[in-house]
Amino acid sequence: MKSFNTKEKLVAYLNSVRGKNLKIGLVPTMGALHEGHLSLIAASKEKCDLTIASIFVNPTQFNKADDLLKYPKPIERDKQLLEKAGCDILFNPEVSEMYHDNERWNYKVGNLNTILEGKFRPGHYEGVTQIVYKLFTLVEPDFAFFGQKDYQQFLVISELTKHFKLPIQLQACPIIREKDGLAMSSRNVRLNQLEHEKSLQLYQSLKFIKANYGKLPKEGLLNQAKGFYNDDLLDLEYLEIADQHTLSPINDQKNAIVLVACSVGSTRLIDNMMLP
Ligand code: PAJ
Repeated sequence: MKSFNTKEKLVAYLNSVRGKNLKIGLVPTMGALHEGHLSLIAASKEKCDLTIASIFVNPTQFNKADDLLKYPKPIERDKQLLEKAGCDILFNPEVSEMYHDNERWNYKVGNLNTILEGKFRPGHYEGVTQIVYKLFTLVEPDFAFFGQKDYQQFLVISELTKHFKLPIQLQACPIIREKDGLAMSSRNVRLNQLEHEKSLQLYQSLKFIKANYGKLPKEGLLNQAKGFYNDDLLDLEYLEIADQHTLSPINDQKNAIVLVACSVGSTRLIDNMMLP
């Protein structure tokens, strides 16, 4: 695997291979890799001739300083995992390589900025779109791979790509879970054993909603499912059933998704499930 930490070196290498009609796949990550990330590498390898993973803990998308500070950075382990997964290129820049001081970003995230994650994490999607735009225009991939785990992020990035008319095909890949159902996340390592057990309520509540979707009125169903969060260690931010395309309140029973965000102790987790 080739590894670059400057844009110049990455672009020089990409320019040397670009003429060869290779399909390029990009997998943007913040590292602390797990099976979920590696499934994106596998999806890219299946579709593309050259797979690039980026590892960059993007400061502009953290709305809590403490979360950024605590974000795990096991770079040597990550490199080994990428190598083993057959990733061709790692791009792992420093913050100063990607941002200059007092940089402005004028792209306005639309309605998705005011609901669900957008509402609870002010500024988060501005930071996500800022870095993803930089990565997209730097790498100019044919395909970019994202997880359904961050479903709203996927919709925001789809809008960004359309807005700038970037010729990149986006692919959303399924959520990879632990054996017990907990959606894999780089933040899971922060959970102690008790918190891990409690965090299974997210998956349980989503499964409950899926099993009863259409059988009970929406509000009643959500109220029952909120009962899964009656615990001192759990702090539910939202549990909503929404339209899959807009994340607005559903008006079509068929294209729905249930999304949840909940803090378990001091760790914030998100999950979702397509309905029915
Ligand atoms: P990060 O949280 O590292 O996630 C990188 C990619 O892995 C995202 O597309 C995310 O949806 C996907 N992913 C995470 N957990 C997953 C799981 N359990 N199953 C499947 N895919 C999973 O998302 C980000 O980084 C950043 O916001 C980023 C897009 C890199 C911009 O900084």
